[in-house]
Formats: sequence, structure tokens, C-alpha cells
Amino acid sequence: MKIEVLDNSNINSRAYQEILSVVTGKAHPVLGLATGTTPIGLYQLMVNGYQQGVSYKHVSTYNLDEYVGIDGGNVNSYRYFMNHHLFDHIDIDKDNTHVPCGVGDLTEQCNNYNNMLSQQPIDIQILGIGVNGHIAFNEPNTPMDSTTHVVALTDSTIKANARLFAHEQLVPQQAITMGLANIMNAKKIVVLATGQGKAQAVKDMVQGKVSVACPASILQNHPDVLLLCDKQAAMLLD
Ligand code: PGA
Repeated sequence: MKIEVLDNSNINSRAYQEILSVVTGKAHPVLGLATGTTPIGLYQLMVNGYQQGVSYKHVSTYNLDEYVGIDGGNVNSYRYFMNHHLFDHIDIDKDNTHVPCGVGDLTEQCNNYNNMLSQQPIDIQILGIGVNGHIAFNEPNTPMDSTTHVVALTDSTIKANARLFAHEQLVPQQAITMGLANIMNAKKIVVLATGQGKAQAVKDMVQGKVSVACPASILQNHPDVLLLCDKQAAMLLD
């Protein structure tokens, strides 16, 4: 794993460089995208890039996860988040933007997502990391060979995400998420981590034993991972 410790303000611009090299370097780039607070600045840079002439016409995207039980029109859905922060502001064909669907027959939704991912491998996957070491909604104890599946969210994730809802009781209890095996299939992975709250998870990801106790530790087995973090998130690293 390559690690770059940067000023907080430079993390998204460094991630954008990586995205841009894929977007401009391939005929049909496939981006793996994440929600959460951390990548919002990256999406703003992608929008700025579009305004300055970068085209996303031939780009496809796959998002990591979605809440179960709310549809894409709900302001708390991850589909809404992606439209609002990125897709509505660039020239991407929305048909080529994929976010797991958390309503309807969930087994069928998982199978569809796995099939699409196997036909269109991800060139670059953007990842956040949870305070408990989750990546996407792969919470501790998720099997390393998991593919897209439905998960019960842990209390710590529900509490962490409650800030985005009117109150904690409104946070869905379940989500549909790409599995660890899907994420490991991406050709390149860029992990973004900021703030002291992520320091233990970052340490476990980088220097801990590869273990289901910290799902992000599986990234130690991937050949091309770049961790972009600030000093606070890196503070426990040796
Ligand atoms: P955050 O979420 O970017 O909002 O901190 C990261 C995550 O939980 O994966």
C-alpha cells in the first residue's frame, strides 16, 4: 500500500489527479465511487473539471452501496447524494451510473449488481473508511470473499451516519453493499481518510493483521492501493 500524508485541503485534489488520469486515459473508463462526507470535495473538483472541458460522456460508474428501504428520490439515499453532488452537473449518461437499488427483490438486485460488475471491471475505486474499519458497508466480520449483499448496519455506523438524518431513528437498519471481493477486483483503489476519528481504523488497515475484525485490512492484499490521509488520520501509524 502506498501512503501519502497530505494537508487536508490537498487530499481531494490528489485523488482527482488519479481519477483524471483514468477518465482521460481510457476510451471507456469505469469509476467506482463512494458516498460519505470525505469525497464531496473530490466530486466538486470533477464538476469543475467538466466546466473546464473534461468530458464524462464515455464514463461508467458503480457506487459501493445504498440504504435498504428508501428509493433514489429520497434525499437520504445514496443515489440522491450522487446525483446532487456529481451526476446532475456533468455530461455523464445517467444510464451508465449505477448505484445498488435498496428496494424490490433484494436478492435479484444483488445478483444484477454482481453481474454488471463482472462485465465492467472497475478501473479505479474511491473508498472511505469507517471508524470501525468498514469499507462500503462491509462491517467487521464480513467474509473476505463476499460479493454484493444485504447487511444489518452496526450501531456505530448508524450513530456515525445519524448526523445526515433529521434524527437517529430515521437511519435505515440495513443496506445493500458491494462485498469485499467486488472491491478487491478493482484495478486500482484510492482510500481517503481524514481526521483523528479515523486514526485507529487507519492503523488497523495498514499495520494490523489482515482480519475480518477490520474489513479494510484486506486491502493489504491488493497490489495497487493508494492511501491519501491527513496527519490526524495518520497519527497512530509507526
Ligand atoms: P465518511 O464515511 O466519509 O462520511 O467519514 C466513510 C465511511 O463510513 O465509509
